[in-house]
Amino acid sequence: MSDLLRLDGGGETLLLQTRTGPPRLAYWGERLPLTLDEAALAILAERAVSHGMLDGGEGLGLFPEAGQGFTGHPAFECHRDDGGFVTQLAPVEATQGVDSATIRLADAAAGVEVVLTVAMDAETGVAAFSSRIGNLGAAPLHLDWVAAAALPATHDEALVFDGRWAREFHTVRQRIATGLVVKENRTGRTSHHSPPFMVLGEPGFGEDHGEVVGLHFAWSGDHRLLVERLRDGRLQVQAGELFWPGEMTLAAGETYETPRLYATRSGGGLNGLSARFHPFVRRRILGDRLTAKPRPVNFNTWEAVYFRHEMEELKALADAAAAVGAERYVLDDGWFKGRPNDTKGLGDWTADPVKYPNGLGPLVDHVRGLGLEFGLWVEPEMANADSDLLRAHPDWILGVAGRDQPLGRGQYVLDLTRPEVSDHIFACISALLSDHAIGYLKWDMNRDLTHPASAGRPASHNQTRAVYALIDRIRAAHPGVEIESCASGGGRADYEILRRTDRIWTSDCNDPIERQQIQRGFSIFFPPEVMGAHVAAAVNHTTGRRTSLDLRALTALFGHFGIEADVRAFSEAELTALRDWIEVYKAHRALIHHGQIVRQTYADPAVVATMVVDETGALASFAQLDTATYASPDPLRLVGLDLDGLYRVRLLNPPRPPSSGMKFAPALTSGEVVEATGRLIETMGLPLPILRAGGIAVFHLERIGQV
Ligand code: DGJ
Repeated sequence: MSDLLRLDGGGETLLLQTRTGPPRLAYWGERLPLTLDEAALAILAERAVSHGMLDGGEGLGLFPEAGQGFTGHPAFECHRDDGGFVTQLAPVEATQGVDSATIRLADAAAGVEVVLTVAMDAETGVAAFSSRIGNLGAAPLHLDWVAAAALPATHDEALVFDGRWAREFHTVRQRIATGLVVKENRTGRTSHHSPPFMVLGEPGFGEDHGEVVGLHFAWSGDHRLLVERLRDGRLQVQAGELFWPGEMTLAAGETYETPRLYATRSGGGLNGLSARFHPFVRRRILGDRLTAKPRPVNFNTWEAVYFRHEMEELKALADAAAAVGAERYVLDDGWFKGRPNDTKGLGDWTADPVKYPNGLGPLVDHVRGLGLEFGLWVEPEMANADSDLLRAHPDWILGVAGRDQPLGRGQYVLDLTRPEVSDHIFACISALLSDHAIGYLKWDMNRDLTHPASAGRPASHNQTRAVYALIDRIRAAHPGVEIESCASGGGRADYEILRRTDRIWTSDCNDPIERQQIQRGFSIFFPPEVMGAHVAAAVNHTTGRRTSLDLRALTALFGHFGIEADVRAFSEAELTALRDWIEVYKAHRALIHHGQIVRQTYADPAVVATMVVDETGALASFAQLDTATYASPDPLRLVGLDLDGLYRVRLLNPPRPPSSGMKFAPALTSGEVVEATGRLIETMGLPLPILRAGGIAVFHLERIGQV
């Protein structure tokens, strides 16, 4: 009988060795022939053991345990009240399915059972790893750490994500020379500073070269990602939920299952990973939710009026937004009872009687009358200390009795693990959706969970699950409603929240210079149609920087386009340009929202260049964020086109005199059209205009044939 379980997908093969010892990832790489020489595989998998190590060496399996003599970071740590902490799991059963495999392990003496599941998406080759722990004993089993899996890594250059409010999705590279590199999140939401994804690759890997593995832990609460250089030189990577002390205890017969760790491999650098993850997200995470209709142009009121909600002004904004081509109007924070600013009112989900004496109806009707969808901002998980809700139910918050906890934006986190709290919030949101023609919710979440306790016990895990359950319940009751995931900008962006939401608010920073970097990082794991991207005022509200309308609009073009500004204050020229760019977005959104993102590499560090390509053509963007290094820009050598495809290329925004700083302007930069093959465009490149800091050039490449 074969010792191997085998999964194939996306041109890859993954082999698990299971029956003769702790389960191990034996092979993960390009697809293998159906017939395998298992003896040869076994010989190739051997590794020398040095003096100074345990006699049998240390197995680095899918689920390494200290009890088996593994001295690195174990995949599993638990203990019992009587002091028991050793586990020695042995395989009991291995099941091969069509696109998944499960391995059951047990330790009767420890009273522990573990089921490891590995699934492989047949189309994209994205694998999903998870583990389930069962308490077979009579006494409680305390779980201290449970990794979804431990994966061996071949390469030691890690690209991890870092960021902060208004500066999300920045990447940091580091080599793992020794010990552990740990990225932890203890904020109770996916986080700005440590979102649960990383890439490990061969040193120097780039956008389109190098062997890389991408890892995405699908969880919106506390987590830990770690990469470790073991003492014998091997590398392992793990991801799991981060439990608060004593948080996860299994009573007799209970089980705990980790969130899924999604991982995929590519020999083609970061673009190769995106080429697997994006279609995976589209087909397996979002399903057909987003393909059913084109993504409408959003207009969001936040940076236009903030908390100043005045009916005539809000209607006038809707008129102005409709006139430039908006298709959805999202009423942001400030609409509900007692909300003059962010210090009060959260939790009281009825329209403010002063700002809306006749309720939301007149505004909804006005917006709908213009032919726009109506969307509404909510922050269901929170309540201000100064709210009717907390005055009536001061005990409805997460916290530890007798302990003060810091406020965040003047608010506390509601204890959604309590059914009466969840029921109340569900009833409030559901009533809003039933009473009004609201097609969209912007679901915000604006503070960290610092004391995530319920009934005297840590409850970060349960709270995260309760948030999922609340969203699921709202979706089930109102299947047509779309939901945007927002947490002070991009603080809740992960594949598990995306299962139940339709869009991510990428960042509160709408400055296109910052956005180019933010969107680049975001685009590694997420496809463009879920990336909220708005055109804001000329002088940006978070950075104070002034940018051109073209840069703002053409940066937003590569995501889910929106407007977030008082468009009434725009000049006629700006309004015309915005209207035109919205037309361009509408003309090309089918391409942008199902094409493949291919980030481009360009020698000038002040440039961000990217392309989205499908069978109909491509859009390519070249953004000059700072002063160019050289006097005359090198051509844009676009990778990712069909080399034998014939393209008609046109610069969408030829520089307008007198701002063009060129004595001689190449024909293409003056708006002329060229027809060329992908091979010519990749090798010779497209001539670029000379751009000042803050300039942008966007090309449309219409595919007109094949050579
Ligand atoms: C934070 C969000 O990220 C913003 O877009 C806005 O909705 C504010 N909250 C409203 O309070």
